[in-house]
Amino acid sequence: MSFPATRLRRLRKSAVTRNMIRETRLNRSNLVMPLFVKHGSNIMNPVTSMPGNYQFSVDRLTEHCKMLAGSGVQSVLLFGIPEKKDETGDVASSPDGIVQQAIRSLKNEIPGLFVIADVCNCEYTVHGHCGTIINGDVDNDSTLTTLARQSLSLALAGADMVAPSDMMDGRVAAIRKVLDNNNFHNLPIMSYSAKYSSAFYGPFREAAESKPEFGDRATYQMDPANKDEALREVALDVEEGSDIVMVKPALGYLDIINEIKGNFNIPVAAYNVSGEFSMVKAAAEKGWIDEKRIVMEILTSIKRAGADIIISYHTKDIIAEL
Ligand code: PBG
Repeated sequence: MSFPATRLRRLRKSAVTRNMIRETRLNRSNLVMPLFVKHGSNIMNPVTSMPGNYQFSVDRLTEHCKMLAGSGVQSVLLFGIPEKKDETGDVASSPDGIVQQAIRSLKNEIPGLFVIADVCNCEYTVHGHCGTIINGDVDNDSTLTTLARQSLSLALAGADMVAPSDMMDGRVAAIRKVLDNNNFHNLPIMSYSAKYSSAFYGPFREAAESKPEFGDRATYQMDPANKDEALREVALDVEEGSDIVMVKPALGYLDIINEIKGNFNIPVAAYNVSGEFSMVKAAAEKGWIDEKRIVMEILTSIKRAGADIIISYHTKDIIAEL
């Protein structure tokens, strides 16, 4: 049937029919709020390049999360800034590590809040790379040991899920094994499967104090030009026992999200990263865009592409609208 019998504008005419036939709806349960935690008390340092985001001490983080939970946020993703960094990131495995402390406080005070812990070494190493350096590059297999230790420590502290973001080969299997051997067979892993070597992480590295001291992350994170490789990464993670696979960044990589959703029967997460967030904030500050509408459109697009879970710094600003 074609025009004039078919007129697609008919169902666009009223808000009621537009609502009835809307194909993609954002829900509160789709969204995860990333947060940064550091040592000390009564600290709430603004992250200059990410307006409205802070480095919190545990006490202020807990207070902030009570507010977030009250407004409908169901899940948070934690990143830690340690007091002291070391060569391998081993400080991240301490039972008194900053994220471990934060998890204990949040699970204690807000038991209903789902707490995801990022697993990576870059915030914890003196050189800012995601693993142990041997011969000028991150050594894959020795890094698996620190990642497994860190994951177990976060699980023991009470994390509801761990999310390895390092891009080492074989890390999902290594983490699954240590968790299973320690009675955490029910703790899910959300792996950053297709994580690209992206300039969109710039503002995050200010927030997490995790900028590499030399070189970049191109020897472990993916080349932004590649799609087949993303599918291979996902296939490996699924085989190794990943429960949720992630694509990161989100907006420039909607095709990757879509392809993964179409090829694998597994929940997909997308990380709407710091650079994507900051660009929107900057343009909104200049009065050039309508922030709320833009954010809804961006997040809806990410979901429409196939993401079940969206990790976004916009979460706190729009959760009440959903
Ligand atoms: C750690 C990590 C990064 C991000 C999440 N986990 C930064 C990086 O790889 O350099 C970026 C998140 C963001 O930009 O919002 N490996």
